[in-house]
Amino acid sequence: MATKPRIALIIGSTRPTRFADKPAQWMLKQAQAREDIEVELIDLRDHPLPFFDELASNMWVPSQNPEAIRWQQTIARFDGFIFVVAEYNHSITGVLKNALDQAYKEWGRKPFTAIGYGGTGAARAVEHLRGIGVELQMVSTHAAVHIGGGDFMAVFPMGGNKPIEDIEANLLPAAKTALDELVWWANATLAARAKDA
Ligand SMILES: Cc1cc2nc3c(=O)[nH]c(=O)nc-3n(C[C@H](O)[C@H](O)[C@H](O)COP(=O)(O)O)c2cc1C
Repeated sequence: MATKPRIALIIGSTRPTRFADKPAQWMLKQAQAREDIEVELIDLRDHPLPFFDELASNMWVPSQNPEAIRWQQTIARFDGFIFVVAEYNHSITGVLKNALDQAYKEWGRKPFTAIGYGGTGAARAVEHLRGIGVELQMVSTHAAVHIGGGDFMAVFPMGGNKPIEDIEANLLPAAKTALDELVWWANATLAARAKDA
């Protein structure tokens, strides 16, 4: 294959004591082990976006805020996304929702998958993310990685705080399926976008 899809792994929590780094680093390792994608970690901490205050979505009006424009340029470089999803009150974090809102054109016709964590493995948040993705004209994988229940408590700092490798046997099959699906869609949409260009 001439062009390997470029995949961004986006960390969706920015709070100073976030748990997100543990699943993010593990998922990064799984993605980096593959030869069919190029993966880069994108930390929302490095993108201090204001709460959306533009005239409109950039589908209609170019954004003004320099951080918003830099964010859009970052997203534009990628062919697909892996979101690291914390569940806050049964949805995604506010900071991730804002980051999704701060671009439009750059998300479209690109696939995403997710690794979520929490009591139910962020299942509810990932479903919300899929709904948002539809509006952004993205395509979601069927599979995602969910670190929930006893597995979550085993690795969570306020629980067992064990290394994630202790539970990875439970995560590896879902990670492989999710990444396989992501790569399929990334190649398909990459080719289709190239045809359109
Ligand atoms: C505002 C808030 C709301 C939360 N709501 C949920 C929830 O709905 N479901 C859940 O499983 N965990 C919930 N939690 C617990 C999180 O799963 C846990 O704090 C996790 O560490 C958050 O991810 P982060 O540390 O990467 O920010 C919530 C945490 C916060 C701070």
